[in-house]
Amino acid sequence: MINRRKFIQASAFTGLATAIGQPLRGNDLHPAIKGKPVVVSTWDAGIRANKAAWDILSKGGRALDAVEKGVMVTEEEQNCCVGLGANPDRDGFVTLDACIMDEFSNCGSVAFLERIKHPIAVARRVMEKTPHVMLVGSGAQQFAVAEGFPLEEQKLSPEAEKAYKDWLIKSEYKPPAINVENKQGGHGPFAPARLSNGEWNHDTIGMVAMDTNGNLSGSCTTSGAGFKMRGRLGDSPIIGAGLFVDNEVGACTATGQGEDVIRVAGSHSVVELMRQGLSPEMACKKVIERIIRIKGPKAKDIQVGFLAINKKGQVGAWSIHKGFEYAIRNQGEERLVKAKFVME
Ligand code: GLY
Repeated sequence: MINRRKFIQASAFTGLATAIGQPLRGNDLHPAIKGKPVVVSTWDAGIRANKAAWDILSKGGRALDAVEKGVMVTEEEQNCCVGLGANPDRDGFVTLDACIMDEFSNCGSVAFLERIKHPIAVARRVMEKTPHVMLVGSGAQQFAVAEGFPLEEQKLSPEAEKAYKDWLIKSEYKPPAINVENKQGGHGPFAPARLSNGEWNHDTIGMVAMDTNGNLSGSCTTSGAGFKMRGRLGDSPIIGAGLFVDNEVGACTATGQGEDVIRVAGSHSVVELMRQGLSPEMACKKVIERIIRIKGPKAKDIQVGFLAINKKGQVGAWSIHKGFEYAIRNQGEERLVKAKFVME
């Protein structure tokens, strides 16, 4: 599994925090990212994903190519939450969700896709080669195979294998609190889970980029919630929830508890707030606050983060809880940034 601490320790911000003798707090950081090209993606895996995206953007390539190739790096890595080695559903099957969107509002999506290594590449084929936006399950797999994607054997990463075995001991299905009075909630191994050290695990890679022509695209890919019900989809394959791009305004991607991102059409809502003049950061904050209002006290049990970019190339993010971070790359600069948050 990716060691986020190592990245945090290696980041320039740790040096900054040490220099001023203060603990590192997301709310103290005001990244002023301007100009193009630029790419941003969720969590520390984004550092490596951004490198692949930057190879394309820095040569004048299209943002769409960058966001596809970028997140394919994460799909290739064996981590808990993205790609074929990720946490399975409660029946032991890894099911993958992904979507992609370009500057012309073309979009493609696959969901509940099994045994295909690069769901994001299949999502792009759905966008480019079919009259549809979304293919799911066996139909998505059939399309992928027809397009030449090999059917892989499912092989859980050692971490996912152990996590699943541990989960099987009790086999307790406890998704986080839902927004209905008097229904039993509780925190379980969902997306993203809170770790024993109090930090939030990550669950998805979402990437948005602007190329040298000022065009925007985005991608989002995940295995979804660990040990989810078979057939469950989160926000990541849903255009407007896990990802939205409007080339006149900006782009946004989401990470975290998919059900609560879908509830507010999260990424679309952020883009619409940017359309009304809010900065990417303030737009993300407003939608996070909306989720918190809807969830009430149960918001403490879930994590959601938004990451957005506007047409000026300005970037912003906000999350419910401390711990969400994103990777940025522009004009040779690459770093990990702690997002602002509402709750510790
Ligand atoms: N955000 C990923 C999921 O909920 O599936």
